Amino acid sequence: MQKVPRELAGHPDRQRWNDRYQGRGAVSFEPHPLAAAALALPLPDGPVADLACGPSGSALLAAAAGRPATAVDISDVALGLMDGEARRRGLTDLITLVQADLPAWRPEPGSYALVICTGYWDRSVFETAAAAVTGGGLLAWEALTAEARQVRPGLCPAWCLEPGQPASLLPSGFTVLESADLPGEHHLPRRNLLARRDETQEARNAGKARDRGDYPAPDWA
Ligand SMILES: C[S@@+](CC[C@H](N)C(=O)[O-])C[C@H]1O[C@@H](n2cnc3c(N)ncnc32)[C@H](O)[C@@H]1O
Repeated sequence: MQKVPRELAGHPDRQRWNDRYQGRGAVSFEPHPLAAAALALPLPDGPVADLACGPSGSALLAAAAGRPATAVDISDVALGLMDGEARRRGLTDLITLVQADLPAWRPEPGSYALVICTGYWDRSVFETAAAAVTGGGLLAWEALTAEARQVRPGLCPAWCLEPGQPASLLPSGFTVLESADLPGEHHLPRRNLLARRDETQEARNAGKARDRGDYPAPDWA
């Protein structure tokens, strides 16, 4: 991993999550079920972004399917664990690790075929992430709901979804494929969302050209 960016050195989120990951035993690198579900659906060309990735296997799963993946997190300990596992699996060429404070992360609009974020909520990051999805691509999110504060009153309200969110915050041009409340038996109460951005004319044309064989399909198509 590269050096910690100076502006993140004293960031409270970095310190909190580094402490958690440092104290953790074996890491499974299991892909999140929502990421596995999203990656099983048809996707346009393009890379995947896994936001607040932690040491999760979602980016690794995308890369194992031949798709470039960008894994973003503020914790250098989490990214170090991801790096080690990507090396072990021979996937470093397909995985880009980005240490960033997500509210300040600025992806190129329309640049990702799939943006995944699980276990993290920030309304402004959701808006940025939605804008980063390319035509025909997917946005997959899962976060705690306000009910989680009844179980853990110390949780910051800004980290929890309000009723109807995040679907209610989608910009126009997205279709909700799934939005489900997940019971809090083993976890805190949370809600997921899977939404597809309408295909743009440009994406439709590219798909038709590929179907005609004007240019070869990439590995992940
Ligand atoms: C509950 S974990 C979720 C990890 C993984 N996505 C999963 O579902 O297992 C939350 C993650 O958010 C990251 N995180 C917290 N605050 C952040 C911030 N401001 N910018 C980027 N990542 C952040 C933490 O480092 C941690 O890896």
